[in-house]
Amino acid sequence: MANQDDIFKNIISHSKEYGFIFQSSEIYDGLSAVYDYGQMGVELKKNLRDYWWKAMVQMHENIVGIDASIFMHPTTWKASGHVDAFNDPLIDNKDSKKRYRADVLIEEHVAKIEGKIQKEIDKAKERFGESFNEETFCSTNARVLENQAKADAILSRFKTALENNDLADVRQIIIDCEIVCPISGSKNWTEVRQFNLMFSTSMGAVTEDSNIIYLRPETAQGIFVNFLNVQKSGRMKIPFGIAQTGKAFRNEIVARQFIFRMREFEQMEMQFFVRPGTEMEWYNYWKDARIKWHKSLGMGNENYRFHDHLKLAHYANAACDIEFNFPFGFKELEGIHSRTDFDLKAHEQFSGKKLQYFDPEINQNYVPYVVETSVGLDRLFLSVLSKAYTEEKLEDGTTRIALNIPAFLAPIKVAILPLLKKDGLPEKAREIMDLLKFDHACTFDEKDTIGKRYRRQDAIGTPFCITIDHQTLEDNTVTIRHRDTMKQERVAIEQLQQIVEEKVSLKKALKSLN
Ligand code: GAP
Repeated sequence: MANQDDIFKNIISHSKEYGFIFQSSEIYDGLSAVYDYGQMGVELKKNLRDYWWKAMVQMHENIVGIDASIFMHPTTWKASGHVDAFNDPLIDNKDSKKRYRADVLIEEHVAKIEGKIQKEIDKAKERFGESFNEETFCSTNARVLENQAKADAILSRFKTALENNDLADVRQIIIDCEIVCPISGSKNWTEVRQFNLMFSTSMGAVTEDSNIIYLRPETAQGIFVNFLNVQKSGRMKIPFGIAQTGKAFRNEIVARQFIFRMREFEQMEMQFFVRPGTEMEWYNYWKDARIKWHKSLGMGNENYRFHDHLKLAHYANAACDIEFNFPFGFKELEGIHSRTDFDLKAHEQFSGKKLQYFDPEINQNYVPYVVETSVGLDRLFLSVLSKAYTEEKLEDGTTRIALNIPAFLAPIKVAILPLLKKDGLPEKAREIMDLLKFDHACTFDEKDTIGKRYRRQDAIGTPFCITIDHQTLEDNTVTIRHRDTMKQERVAIEQLQQIVEEKVSLKKALKSLN
């Protein structure tokens, strides 16, 4: 069986071969950590974005959307804290000359220790069978206790070092834990330095400091600075939300793992404005709502988990990630943050304008608190692609590669396939295409054997293939083939609309969220 690394490599090459994702400017050997979406990728991405938008905006009477600019007044980023605090702690290995995020090295080391604990638990589970009690085992087994204490001590020391901005101690933790560079295998580390992740450029003809502007590192600030515009023009009452999708840019230093960590990526964010003191209630509400949304994609409930933040960002009083089990392990997919009134207060202070709400229920003015949900569209895309990709051995010994993307998200819903290029079959097939194309993304394919054409559609995740043969001309029936089961059935052309609609409609997924 192929290992996870090989599967991940296969997914990347499959994405290219079938027009999902290309490296940016590939003819010039590419641009690191920047990618383009091809003809299939753009459809899947759009469907994911639409599903998010509908679930957040259309399904909530008190959430509206905006589309703010990428460029914002430079003071925005002073106020938000990004100029001073949007940094990654970096460390270089002197032998391999490779650069790492110090926090990632430490967290991965701790994850290894936690892996050892899990191994002990799994072994004991097997040994004791039904009578196994995990809680008792973890609180009494010497090896588990020792490893747990080790992991806790490292994390707590690391947390303190970050809180005190003590970069020397962050380095010392790496040395004390005997963390080695995965490339050179050596412990020959440089100092740890902070590196600001914002891209800057200049506006206008004169390149002076005062003209420097940033490419937004998050879409959220476009929402904060428009808070009053939306509240007043939309007569919104607290609690209410503002949603937005759009590009964000970060000069990621350690940019690996395909579209997981990019320098230009797309975020889908929602800021929910609430009365101060109610933020934890809403934080928990959005944690539940968002994990439910992810699970509704059908990628396996066991592949999602929460991870509470060890170090809170400069703006948060509670924060967690929804992690997904990517081919390279559980990693952040979405962030949920209780951002307090940090951003609105900061913008009040820096702009000199009031950003307050008069709450008629308690007869008070206040700066609202904010609970934010923030998911990366590209990471979401990768989560779906990596679980949908299957290599399946068929009874005849061949391998079928299919993308089992949920039908409502599939780039193409229906492939129309005339069995032959003659005898009036293509013309009849076009009639069917004309019937379905107004409601569904369809493709027409008359090249190669029908078996090859089925495989091509499986590879891009098309849920339905409709074959038009000589019998179609006689009785207006076609065969419809289902991607997941490969089963074929003969149905009347007039039934097609309903069969397809039932499977590809977003409605069922949206209803499951209630
Ligand atoms: N406004 C809050 C915010 O930006 P974040 O945790 O830094 O929070 C939110 O980012 C989400 O954006 C992440 O959970 C991830 O899905 C996505 N994201 C962040 N950096 C990314 C990158 N370099 N490449 C792709 N997606 C990224």
